[in-house]
Amino acid sequence: MAMEQQQNVPSRGGCFSRFWKRLSTPSARWSVLALVVVGLLIGASGVIGTQVIVGATGTNEFCGGTCHSMQWVAQEYRQSGHYANRTGFRASCHDCHIPNGYPKLLWYKAQAGIRDAVQEARGVISTEERFKKERLRMARLVWAEFKENNSVNCQHCHQFNDDVVAKQKEFVRPMHQQFLANTATCIDCHKGVAHTAPDE
Ligand code: HEC
Ligand code: HEC
Ligand code: HEC
Repeated sequence: MAMEQQQNVPSRGGCFSRFWKRLSTPSARWSVLALVVVGLLIGASGVIGTQVIVGATGTNEFCGGTCHSMQWVAQEYRQSGHYANRTGFRASCHDCHIPNGYPKLLWYKAQAGIRDAVQEARGVISTEERFKKERLRMARLVWAEFKENNSVNCQHCHQFNDDVVAKQKEFVRPMHQQFLANTATCIDCHKGVAHTAPDE
């Protein structure tokens, strides 16, 4: 009885090895050109799809408006000089918080996206009260990140060198010379440039 049953059930190994055999046997029906075209189409839609998702999840509306729990930072941001200033030039959430180049951007967004989705589902900062309680912890993560990467995201827009610093107010110059000398980074002195920095 037991023997009969075993014969009717194909083993797992058999199933996988048949699948692998089909994959690795040259196709009799499709020309190489057709296969190359199909491969290119799949590759292209992957690349375009990724760009569309990166674009859609990179707007201020998405970052500051999708999740209820981002409303408090988003409100403060709209009061800040990085949102509205006399030049009309605006820094977005993405500009400050997400790495600027590939593939780092994708890796960072995937990690941050998963973490934020989990925390949002758990309601870690779902009320203003909870947000205020968690705020310092979250700010510290951002500060540590900027400290470690020499505030690289600030530098995509603010590119300081001797000529730039020479144009700044006299009392600011010695401050920014410390940056040029590599003894301090932007975040050491400029906290709260887009939201209120919590007290330490
Ligand atoms: C997308 C470009 C961009 C990024 C990224 C950016 N800034 Fe700015 N920053 C600006 C612009 C534009 C202004 C406004 C200039 C004006 O008002 O004349 C500004 C103004 C400032 C000011 C002076 C006015 C104020 O609001 O306090 C400081 C200080 C400053 N930025 C620091 C930073 C730091 C620190 C970072 C990184 C955490 C950063 N910026 C990231 C573009 C940027
Ligand atoms: C050692 C401290 C220190 C460091 C490091 C530093 N700053 Fe500043 N910065 C200041 C002070 C102080 C002021 C004047 C007060 C203010 O505007 O906040 C200033 C002013 C500014 C201004 C306004 C300049 C103006 O002329 O109106 C900008 C923009 C700015 N900083 C951006 C940056 C960026 C970007 C970095 C990193 C590349 C940086 N700072 C690094 C201390 C520092
Ligand atoms: C000019 C750069 C800049 C922009 C623009 C910016 N942030 Fe931030 N963000 C920071 C910095 C720096 C911190 C670390 C805390 C501090 O110094 O304010 C921070 C902290 C945070 C925190 C941690 C909690 C807290 O209050 O410290 C959250 C959440 C956050 N940002 C979300 C956003 C969202 C959402 C947007 C867009 C609506 C945005 N940020 C736009 C620079 C920026």
